[in-house]
Amino acid sequence: MKARILEILRREYDFHSGETLSRELGVSRVTVWKHIKALQESGYHIEAGGKGYRLTGSPDVPYPWEFPRREKLMHYHPELESTMGAARQMAREGCPAFTTVVAGRQTRGRGRMARSWQSEPGGLYFTLVLRPKLPVVDSPKVCFAAALALTETLREDVGVEAAVKWPNDILAGKRKLAGMLSEMEADGDLVSFVNIGIGINVNNDPAPAEPGAVSLCRLLGHDVSPVSILSAFLDRLESRLDPPSLDRAITDWKVFTTTLNRKVCVQTLQEEVCGMAVDVDENGALMVRTANQELKRVVFGDCFHKGE
Ligand code: BTN
Repeated sequence: MKARILEILRREYDFHSGETLSRELGVSRVTVWKHIKALQESGYHIEAGGKGYRLTGSPDVPYPWEFPRREKLMHYHPELESTMGAARQMAREGCPAFTTVVAGRQTRGRGRMARSWQSEPGGLYFTLVLRPKLPVVDSPKVCFAAALALTETLREDVGVEAAVKWPNDILAGKRKLAGMLSEMEADGDLVSFVNIGIGINVNNDPAPAEPGAVSLCRLLGHDVSPVSILSAFLDRLESRLDPPSLDRAITDWKVFTTTLNRKVCVQTLQEEVCGMAVDVDENGALMVRTANQELKRVVFGDCFHKGE
């Protein structure tokens, strides 16, 4: 109902009478008023008077009703420990694919390699539950598709020159704009769910605590809409997960990476692998040619770009 009320109020910047709204929505004027009041309480500026209702401002918070096509799948919390925990529980309880848990801030945001992820208000923090029909060995394709969809969203919908560092850090130049964390559970050899957690520096300023990080608003000099980013990303990812697209995910990802054909050092759990990053194989592993011409296959680690 809130999505439909907003759709009508946004159609024309003018007053819309309670009677028109109630007729178009097929509910009583009292019901219309209750929803208007709830929207006002959620931060929407809606003038209410004798001429009806007029929307003069929206809070740009990823409330479910801001995603009309996906409303039932969207779960917004002003604050969570981590969207990963909430999404994992929902996935284990059988929630549908594309269920999305979003938090206004996280008190224990998690990063890769057991690090924490700074999650103050202004950033966009969410975890998406995916249920691709894939054997476990093919699950990395989903993470590459997500990194690719996010890079495309930032480049084409937001207008920043985002690039991806293996495996899925999103950078602007050398600074980190967004990070991605994935968790997978299997049912035998098949994927049961892959949860993709994404943190994007949008209107926050991560630099004081993380000097190597930057936000979209710092780069562009103006605020950016988290609702528009999330909506564009979900649409792009949905088409990237179509089986023919998904099969191309790693190949297409290579177009936007700055990791290949450069010197890197990758800190794995066992060792540090340094050399020239020459390729990413069909399972998403980074192929590094070391100084003694050995070709090493790295499946997991922290990648550092060396030199220019
Ligand atoms: C990285 O270290 O680069 C990955 C960061 C992932 C952060 C996101 S924010 C939303 C989701 N919830 C978390 O606790 N972490 C991920």
